[in-house]
Amino acid sequence: MLTDAQTRALARQFGTPLWVMDAPTIRERLASLQAFDTVRYAQKANPNVHLLRLLREGGAKVDAVSRGEALRALAAGYQGGSARAATLHEAAQADIVYTADLLDRESLDFVVTEGLVVNCGSIDMLRQLGERAPGHAVWLRLNPGFGHGHSKKTNTGGEHSKHGIWHGDLTEALGVIQATGLRLVGLHLHIGSGVDYGHLGRVCGAMVDLVRQVKAAGLDLAALSAGGGLSIPYREGEPRIDPAHYFGLWDAARREAQTLLGHGLHLEIEPGRYLVAEAGALIAEVRAVKRQGQVPFVLVDAGFNELMRPAMYGAHHGLRLVTADGRVAADTAPSAVAGPLCESGDVFTQGAGGDIERRALPAAAVGDWLVIENTGAYGSSMSSNYNTRPLIAEVLLDGGAARLIRRRQRVEELLALEIESTETRQPAR
Ligand code: LLP
Repeated sequence: MLTDAQTRALARQFGTPLWVMDAPTIRERLASLQAFDTVRYAQKANPNVHLLRLLREGGAKVDAVSRGEALRALAAGYQGGSARAATLHEAAQADIVYTADLLDRESLDFVVTEGLVVNCGSIDMLRQLGERAPGHAVWLRLNPGFGHGHSKKTNTGGEHSKHGIWHGDLTEALGVIQATGLRLVGLHLHIGSGVDYGHLGRVCGAMVDLVRQVKAAGLDLAALSAGGGLSIPYREGEPRIDPAHYFGLWDAARREAQTLLGHGLHLEIEPGRYLVAEAGALIAEVRAVKRQGQVPFVLVDAGFNELMRPAMYGAHHGLRLVTADGRVAADTAPSAVAGPLCESGDVFTQGAGGDIERRALPAAAVGDWLVIENTGAYGSSMSSNYNTRPLIAEVLLDGGAARLIRRRQRVEELLALEIESTETRQPAR
């Protein structure tokens, strides 16, 4: 995505480490999903308010999984209030859907006050909302009993997943909806991140069975959500998903469900990664090069507090060296690439079990830059302040311009949380 010249210019202008996002790539990915009635962005992938605005302008709706994410959506111009919309059809097109498996007390107050349509992943959540706000519009997030993900940690279906209402409990959930007067908008299935077509076929089949149960219980619905999970090619040669094929499978399920219910259904998809992953890169500077016995190490100024995916899942990200002086660097022995944190797991080249891997890279020198590719999703959004490292800056490229969309945090801001805290009762999250 970034040329060598752009990398040098951005690193010099904004400093490193630096997140860079490319607006045209995001717009292009969004456009490729236009066959769906709604594309709902799972903002957990990257919730920067400027990206939310960009996606809103492109026609995307948004998902929020916390009060904070919902406040971001409101700040980006999305509207609440749809939970009280006159028709289910309108509620199905809500700007914001709040998806969770539980509602803490503050969030329960918040979704009711703001009128946010809620996608419920537990029956307790449904009961609490129903008692508090009869008439509120809800989706049911169901666990079909199986799931799939690029890692065990991103599988969101099956017995070992905490997510969703178990498929066998659908009748009970529908009973709570009827008893409390909640209004059912639709059914939602998200079985994990990194889904393949084989699993997708099974999910679509499961959806039709679930719709059949809703009908048998005497209820109706207006929409189906295919969840997210669309994969992207992290490694060279990995296949890219075909949006038309993806839509075709879901559209067939939608048609079957329509036949069962005797009316049209709204079909939505809820991707995070697919929209933003390939639009993002992390630029880090090489600060040390050393050898541990036989293993060459390239040490850069970004760590797993910035990009957690390799340490958390053994995730693979392309690495590209950009020399500071424009020299053409010779190939060297495959190297491990690691960061500055005081923890041995702070390595960008590692497998899922934590074994250090080595990657072919040109010979790096201090002052060169390393571009860590495809980091637009679950990069900056999963960053932490570990080792008291402030969050880094984020830049958006659009129409030849580079705009700072998040300034770098200051250590003083972190310290203020501790030094200025005198209240015992904490304000809302
Ligand atoms: N919808 C629901 C209900 C979800 O739980 C998720 C992701 C998505 C949509 C978006 O999934 P996507 O299209 O981005 O795969 N941190 C992990 C991914 C965790 C995803 C959690 N839920 C990673 O870095 O791969």
